[in-house]
Amino acid sequence: MTTPAHVAIIMDGNGRWAKARGLPRVAGHRAGVEALRQTVRAAGEMGIEWLTVYAFSSENWSRPKSEVSDLMGLLKLFIRRDLAELHKHGVRVRVIGERDGLEPDIRALLEEAEELTRANRSLNLVIAFNYGSRDEIARAARKAALAVKAGKIDPDSISADTFGEFLDTTGIPDPDLIIRTSGELRLSNFLLWQAAYAELVFLPCYWPDFGRTDLAEALRSFASRERRFGGVAARDVAL
Ligand code: IPE
Ligand code: IPE
Ligand code: MG
Repeated sequence: MTTPAHVAIIMDGNGRWAKARGLPRVAGHRAGVEALRQTVRAAGEMGIEWLTVYAFSSENWSRPKSEVSDLMGLLKLFIRRDLAELHKHGVRVRVIGERDGLEPDIRALLEEAEELTRANRSLNLVIAFNYGSRDEIARAARKAALAVKAGKIDPDSISADTFGEFLDTTGIPDPDLIIRTSGELRLSNFLLWQAAYAELVFLPCYWPDFGRTDLAEALRSFASRERRFGGVAARDVAL
């Protein structure tokens, strides 16, 4: 079975999970963190090299203040509580998204996680935090423009192959498989550039209910797909 090198997950449905139980939304987010812990473990064991998780989007600021503050608090708690454990298991943490404008203590924690785990070589865990693809692409265009202005690059050198160097995901392979939980069928501004040829799997379960068997099911679905990248399947070439 072909295992995708890079799996990216839109962890959606925490609020509805909580609502279905008569609980406040924050209870869903807490349960979501537990599902994340288990997924990181399972992904490593299943031989996935890169796992990207959408934790907070650039549009999630539009939620009520108290929910935003709950989500910020949970990220801090996750890094404070789990960083040592992730490091012990050889997980390398990277963070994509806009850092400017984040609270200084959150920025410091994100930087600490990246620094501490820089040399680790088992699973690569990429956390998309304050991330939005359009924002990422616009910032990349600005970086490229500044590099041209400074005389560091020639405008003609900017192409579909080289532009990725300006994105937050530079050095990270494109996702092979994108999973979204909660039944929604959209990308919500996630990895729009990088998802060009990703296989998509949408699962009905809410994120806090996502577990090892759901990940295995998504991997099975991935293995049954035929990826053509715009070409012709090998067996049809001579026809
Ligand atoms: C995903 O769950 C978590 C974040 C977006 C941070 P939601 O909070 O979006 O849950 P639903 O979609 O309202 O059920
Ligand atoms: C996407 O989920 C963002 C994260 C999972 C962090 P949303 O719940 O924010 O997306 P929409 O609003 O349903 O498109
Ligand atoms: Mg949602």
